[in-house]
Amino acid sequence: MPENILIAIAWPYSNAEIHVGNITGSHLPGDIVARYHRLKGNRVLMVSGTDSHGTPVTVKADSLGKPVEEVYKQYHNTFLELFQGYGITYDLFTSTHTENHFKVSQSIFLALKQNGFLFTQKSMQWYSPAAGKFLPDRYVEGTCYICNYDGARSDQCDNCGNVLEPEKLLNPRSKNDGSTPELRETEHFYIDLSKLEPHVIAFLKARSGHMRDTVLGESLGKIQAEGLKPRPITRDLDWGIPVPVEGWQNKCLYVWFEAVIGYLSAAIEWANISRQPAAWKDWWANPAARQYYFIGKDNIFFHTSLWPAELMGVGEQFAEIFNGEKGVKLTLPHDVPANQFMNLEGDKISGSRNWAVWGRDALAAYDPDALRYYLTVNMPESKDSDWDWAEFVERNNSELVATWGNLANRVLSFSYKHWEGHAPDVSLADLRETDKTLLATIEGGFTSVGDLLEAVKLREALKETFRLATEVNRYLDANAPWQAIKTDRAAAALTIYTALRAIDSLKVLFAPFLPFTSQKLHQIFGYATPLAGEQYVEEISDSLGAHTGLRYKAGESGNTWQPSQLQPGAPLQQPEPLFKKLDAAVAEMERGKLGG
Ligand code: MF3
Ligand code: ZN
Repeated sequence: MPENILIAIAWPYSNAEIHVGNITGSHLPGDIVARYHRLKGNRVLMVSGTDSHGTPVTVKADSLGKPVEEVYKQYHNTFLELFQGYGITYDLFTSTHTENHFKVSQSIFLALKQNGFLFTQKSMQWYSPAAGKFLPDRYVEGTCYICNYDGARSDQCDNCGNVLEPEKLLNPRSKNDGSTPELRETEHFYIDLSKLEPHVIAFLKARSGHMRDTVLGESLGKIQAEGLKPRPITRDLDWGIPVPVEGWQNKCLYVWFEAVIGYLSAAIEWANISRQPAAWKDWWANPAARQYYFIGKDNIFFHTSLWPAELMGVGEQFAEIFNGEKGVKLTLPHDVPANQFMNLEGDKISGSRNWAVWGRDALAAYDPDALRYYLTVNMPESKDSDWDWAEFVERNNSELVATWGNLANRVLSFSYKHWEGHAPDVSLADLRETDKTLLATIEGGFTSVGDLLEAVKLREALKETFRLATEVNRYLDANAPWQAIKTDRAAAALTIYTALRAIDSLKVLFAPFLPFTSQKLHQIFGYATPLAGEQYVEEISDSLGAHTGLRYKAGESGNTWQPSQLQPGAPLQQPEPLFKKLDAAVAEMERGKLGG
């Protein structure tokens, strides 16, 4: 029975371009797992979108002197271009600024309210008399009351790293115009997480068998240390989703409260535009569905505590409010395989210092599979990792090109040449022990690599696939078909047929990681049905305007996660190299661009 797998990936803020750390942190691991499950024949729904609200986005628009609508759409379009280039196969990549997302978020808010998990409270907040409005916390700067640093944001000090209580900031000034703000009373809705705390703890403990220690430890540790406290979920802002309560429409829902709801609203939007409006429930009202959330470590709390709390708090009320359906209970996350960070040449990635490898720049110079390869072997799964240009070149040349690329190219070209464009036409009954042993080893990869992918151990999964490729090289060394062809053509035929069949299997094992070159190999082996489906861009419009969504059309390949059945004598296409060797000078050239 195919399983329903939801691949949920952190929604990038529309205030900056995506860099390699973002790709390896969430989009790429999500895509690898999605591709694996599709090859297995499971029903995958992979969703995310542009996080278009929140102060990071308005700050950016202000600094550019442009309307927020224009800025978020511009970033959104660069995201779509990047995902297509890297083969990040979203079933739907949308945005939080859609009519559907507004409605779903407001329904979640109202369900929590109806179930008694929201309350209102008055508080003091910085108000700008000059601008005539309340200022978001990060629009107010001043002196940190803990370390005395004079460039602290009211909610956070970058010098001592502490989260600050905004109203305690010393010498406050508005980031907009430098004027002095004053404290005024305002009122907000709070989600009472303390009431949901026991449920969140039980939710987390039930996942201790498979959740990463880094994620589970941090989540439970935080709750043990400080408890789950009520959090304000509305803001005095005019860009965002209006609070759906009489008299509150001039305030907005807090960006984190609504952005996580995007995982649900995107599934609903996908179902609607796919003309199967009830299909979202296969992933969202189905206890057997498995949901995986791919995020960076800075997002852990929101996904392991806030989002499950929202889901448990709404109970069956969400669907009743949203579309009048009764008895629909929302599915909870299965796993949150959060990654640590990727640094760059030993330093933290920083856009403002231009210490970054931007995803689109890298793609303009290198092949997507070469980038995907390095980003996977270096994925910060259990600790921070480092992008090092010299290592990128070295591993591309000595691993991707020398081990895998040369293996495939050497065997295919040899067969193409000596058997006139075909695989050797051997009799399967003649296969020797050595041939059968190799094929059994490679066949074992569908379990060993599959289990690792299932457990979201992607570095190990790729390493295991490489180990298998090395086994084929060892087999070729032992059986030396390049010599045998001159003396014992029948033996050479058995060796080359066996190696081809192993490579045809390896192509599938590599496909989640290196989809472009696996597809190329797939064609060289003469298969007509592609290994994966296609991505395309679609215009979607609603009452909030038009946006472009990235969509994915599934292929027809069914369960392809299976050992090769390559027929002896099968016709081949003209082989060509899969990967490019890089010049060592690349590293110096790329390093020279950093920090400039
Ligand atoms: N926009 C946030 C960030 O870039 C991530 C939001 S994830 C979501 O850090 F689930 F809340 F959408
Ligand atoms: Zn400080």
